[in-house]
Amino acid sequence: MKIVIVGSGAIGSLYGGILSRLEDTEVTLVGRSPHITAVEERGLTLLGVMGEYHLDMCATEKAADVTEADLVIITTKTYDTVQAALSAKHLVDAGAYVLLIQNGLGTEEQVAEALGTTRVLRATTCMGALQNEPGTVEATGCGLTEIGSHYEDNFAFVEKITDMFKAAGFDVRSSDNIQGVVWTKTLVNCGINPVGALTGLSNGEVYKNQELRGLIIRLVEEATKIVEALGIELTTEDPVRYALGTAKATGDNINSMLQDLRAHKRTEIDAITGEIIRLGKELGIETPSNESVYALVKAIESQYLAETEKKATPTMKIDELVKAVTTP
Ligand code: PAF
Repeated sequence: MKIVIVGSGAIGSLYGGILSRLEDTEVTLVGRSPHITAVEERGLTLLGVMGEYHLDMCATEKAADVTEADLVIITTKTYDTVQAALSAKHLVDAGAYVLLIQNGLGTEEQVAEALGTTRVLRATTCMGALQNEPGTVEATGCGLTEIGSHYEDNFAFVEKITDMFKAAGFDVRSSDNIQGVVWTKTLVNCGINPVGALTGLSNGEVYKNQELRGLIIRLVEEATKIVEALGIELTTEDPVRYALGTAKATGDNINSMLQDLRAHKRTEIDAITGEIIRLGKELGIETPSNESVYALVKAIESQYLAETEKKATPTMKIDELVKAVTTP
């Protein structure tokens, strides 16, 4: 199978590197330099809980350079998803499936709309990864990957790639309730991520602190009321226990939101806590703890983003992006 990983930072390179070890897969990493240049020049080094490997891999900064693929895996941050998907539109138009491995809510629908196809799959991951230096990625946590799709026609392909991920060594399972899977993961993220991000603590350190455990409980309980009101079936009967259990099980992880704050990157707070607050307002459910952590993360983020956003390209709406990519 020919696989392209768009958004090959730590997590994307980890999945790509491990999948490339299978005999019948060819993987190309698409991402940013200096990481991509390092991989092109010296190969990818994987360290940590998935084993230690040095892999020669194809890598490029532009998805447009890739001419053939059966599967496009997108591992960008939520707010870059549509742009990443559009950069690989030529591959999808030629028949490739898209698999989104990321946090947050709602991206499958956005990608399906932007690409005009329902060949869109979704996965959640509890893998932890850090990029120590360009060309080197460390797997810090070896958690479950769950794969599914909102679109029934994709179920056979979901099973096929689940088998492929399993053969590569991932702890993986397919699900016919991907909405429940995504919401269950979002409850974990709304509990752990802002708390770790605001305190600067690893998941394990957060877990060990009684007051912080109490805050996680309040955050998850508020969000669970929204899930109940929406009639979504979670994949756990006890989301609070599941969130706390994940914090403990991924104890060495520096959660992705804390990594973003430390690297002065935009966080995914809008696609996680922001969505919970928005839905709470729509449904008449109060979310005071989520509102507080949201305000605090946004305040820290806005301090460093104010400067970088001045220089960045203005965000485009989906139809503008489609036009920009498809107009010759
Ligand atoms: O976003 C993250 O960091 C991860 O989803 C999780 C499971 C919270 C572990 O750190």
